Amino acid sequence: MHSNASIAISALCVGIISGCSPDQPINAAQPAAEVPAQVVAAADAITLPVSLNAVMVALVDHASEPLWLDAYDPPNTDARWREAEYNAYQMAVSGKLIQLAGSGPNDVDWVADPQWKVFAEEMSAAGVDALTAVQAKDVTALNEAGDRLVASCESCHKKFKPGLTSMGLYKSPNYPPPR
Ligand code: HEC
Repeated sequence: MHSNASIAISALCVGIISGCSPDQPINAAQPAAEVPAQVVAAADAITLPVSLNAVMVALVDHASEPLWLDAYDPPNTDARWREAEYNAYQMAVSGKLIQLAGSGPNDVDWVADPQWKVFAEEMSAAGVDALTAVQAKDVTALNEAGDRLVASCESCHKKFKPGLTSMGLYKSPNYPPPR
């Protein structure tokens, strides 16, 4: 877009306007084939700047707990429905995000395990279910999505978090705050 515009403007300069500097370089577009290669290389190198333990506490748990509460005490204002929608987006995305390793000592091993990917995908799918339910303001469907969600947490924790957490980050006992 930008390059095409500069080429067009340069052509205009040369053709019509006197005083244009003819030796200004035309900003030629990169060959299209190089871009995807760079994008792929960058994607391979992505590492989360925090531990997966932190992602669990600050994102996964933070977004899922209110959704479960919403299933029992359904939102009664537009603002609460919108909050629920944001939480559901976060669940849908976090199931993909935790497939990237962070700075925790076990993160690389976890994400390399095919079972991890299965549980993480299941969590993301449950998040999409929750999103669909929330957008339809369908509390029954939100309950079902909540059940699917909790099953995904439990099955992964059973396999990968059987005892104490490795990083020692726990959810706050005061989260979620009382309504
Ligand atoms: C793909 C696997 C996986 C899924 C899915 C998953 N977890 Fe975790 N979770 C872990 C692992 C592994 C740890 C321990 C991290 C550590 O200590 O380094 C953990 C830690 C946690 C912690 C911090 C430790 C604690 O007990 O307070 C919370 C909170 C948590 N998870 C909540 C959830 C919730 C809620 C869900 C579902 C909505 C969920 N997790 C889904 C793997 C998973």
